[in-house]
Amino acid sequence: MKQPKFYVTTPIYYVNDVPHIGHAYTTILGDVLARYHRLLGVPTFFLTGTDEHGQKVQRAAEAAGISPKEQADRTVVRFQELWRRLGITNDDFIRTTEPRHVKVVQAILQDLYDRDEIYRADYDGWYCVPCERFFTEKDLNDGTCPECRRSLERIRESNYFFRMSRYQDWLVEYIQAHPRFILPESRRNETLGFLRKKLNDLCVSRPKSRLAWGIELPFDRDFVTYVWFDALVNYISAPGYLSDEERFRAWWPASYHLIGKDILTTHTVYWPTMLKAMGLPMPETVFAHGWWLVGESKMSKSVGNVVNPMEFIERYGVDAFRYFLMAEMTLGQDAAFTEESFVRRCNADLANDIGNLLSRVLKLINSHLGGQTPAPGPEGEEETALRDAVMAAAVAMEEAVEGMRLDAGLAAVQNAVREANRYLEKKQPWFMAKQGDRAGLETTLYAAGETLRIVSGLLYPVMPGKMAELRAALGLPAGEPSITDLKRWGCLESGRRVAAEGRPLFPRIQTEKTEAQPPVSGLTPASAEGVALIEYADFQKVELRTARVLTAERVAGADKLLRLEVDSGDGRRQIVAGIAQHYRPEDLPGRLIVIVANLKPARIRGVESRGMLLAASCEGALKLVTVDGDMPPGSTVR
Ligand code: ME8
Ligand code: MG
Repeated sequence: MKQPKFYVTTPIYYVNDVPHIGHAYTTILGDVLARYHRLLGVPTFFLTGTDEHGQKVQRAAEAAGISPKEQADRTVVRFQELWRRLGITNDDFIRTTEPRHVKVVQAILQDLYDRDEIYRADYDGWYCVPCERFFTEKDLNDGTCPECRRSLERIRESNYFFRMSRYQDWLVEYIQAHPRFILPESRRNETLGFLRKKLNDLCVSRPKSRLAWGIELPFDRDFVTYVWFDALVNYISAPGYLSDEERFRAWWPASYHLIGKDILTTHTVYWPTMLKAMGLPMPETVFAHGWWLVGESKMSKSVGNVVNPMEFIERYGVDAFRYFLMAEMTLGQDAAFTEESFVRRCNADLANDIGNLLSRVLKLINSHLGGQTPAPGPEGEEETALRDAVMAAAVAMEEAVEGMRLDAGLAAVQNAVREANRYLEKKQPWFMAKQGDRAGLETTLYAAGETLRIVSGLLYPVMPGKMAELRAALGLPAGEPSITDLKRWGCLESGRRVAAEGRPLFPRIQTEKTEAQPPVSGLTPASAEGVALIEYADFQKVELRTARVLTAERVAGADKLLRLEVDSGDGRRQIVAGIAQHYRPEDLPGRLIVIVANLKPARIRGVESRGMLLAASCEGALKLVTVDGDMPPGSTVR
């Protein structure tokens, strides 16, 4: 049996302009998958690079008044710098102007020409410069490019053609017989739809008189190679095709070609037919993800709505950026990129959930257990429930990597973190400390610490820097986590020194916009300092009443908020409360709570709230104020 291996590629990016968030996304995705596979102990080869030939690059160079090679040399470092900054662990970086690549492209062309897979003919048609593609009259869309709808150039010339059309039937059958060849399924259907029309042969040359910047055809020096025929070959030239056959056989076929859906046809029609003509096996999966949108349109250099990833990293940090991109986009679908959603997600998932869990654990271990990781006592029901949630997250993450659903895997991990925060609220270790219940305290903090150990390992491929910091703070040994330890509960060693509770791991991002804050927040410790004294008359202005909770549900998109329907004696009213991290919706109906009944109505995250409920909070814990014994709803509270 063949040894398992993982070979993942990104598109090689054009050097006509500097990278934007779209490029960063595919590259981070490749990096996360590569890192997971390395953790799993699977030999991994992760390839990225730059596409340096063709009309686009030549035009950018002309505009800048420099040679195309200079244009490439200047721009390639921008990509390389960004990948370094983003912690990208590519094993190779290929530039299509490198001799190791050029030689292979020429050898392939010569071989195909010798075997009559490539022939010369006259050509009359339309050309789209941004897409670098030819179209015939019947492909046209009111005279514009059927792919991007921009204007076309009429071209009449003699050229060389690859006999792509002869592989049409084979390709359709191959796609039908291999359900994982093109993913997701919507993209597979798109390619099958495209293949319902008769396939033309592919023009693989450009006369030098029109375009000089490319790889010369070995059998005709008046022509250069069509940029796509050159670029796609990078996936085999880099791992050693025709130069290091042993290495090449070790890696090829690729496990995944990661691409955006903009370059589906080239990867699922041109590339497989080229490989077939060369007699090489097909890649296992071409995975086409969706687009990052700005408003309604694709973020793109030519539209001019790009977000510069460097600026974002400077402002918010590398790991938060990597996390957001992976968590926010459901693989295969489009996603909107806004700074607002970025800030919201980082504050909720990173600052509030993970960051808060870590600072609670460190604080309690430092103040009550001498700064050393505890030893657990016997496991109770709550510990078992927490362990189950964490183990479920480990399984979900593995499945998510396998099934290309990283967003779902990350959501499962996030769920385990929230479970741990709820667990602490239930167990109240701060009161155990006050009562001198050392055994209880140790068991509780062990379970919370163990959650952090496993979670930090599961998130390591996404946030390598921050998770290494977290692991160091917990006293875990340096270096990459081991995957087997992530599937086993109880590996946290006791007696290891934890860090002093310092700066928060993920500082909360403050925004200028002041949004209505949820009326109660379990995360702001109550403080008695600086509270002014009031007159009884002031207090009288506040109408406190009992209310019966009728229904409770989460507010979509706001993970701290619950929407409650209550009976306040004078009818039903809706109240939005920031208690979702402390109470499950199903635990609330029937409870008799206390509300401020005459608070001005407010909209919280778009949901109207009439009144506010009362709750006590301390060190991150939160408990509702309820009435001791039964009373009708609407009773006055004084
Ligand atoms: O097409 N959302 O290079 P390119 C998500 N050189 N991903 C995006 C994106 C967006 N808004 N914009 C770009 C080329 N991307 C060729 C590839 S491969 C043999 C040759 C990402 O610089 C996405 O991966 O135009 C897309 O496919 C790629 O950048 C296109 O980069
Ligand atoms: Mg493009």
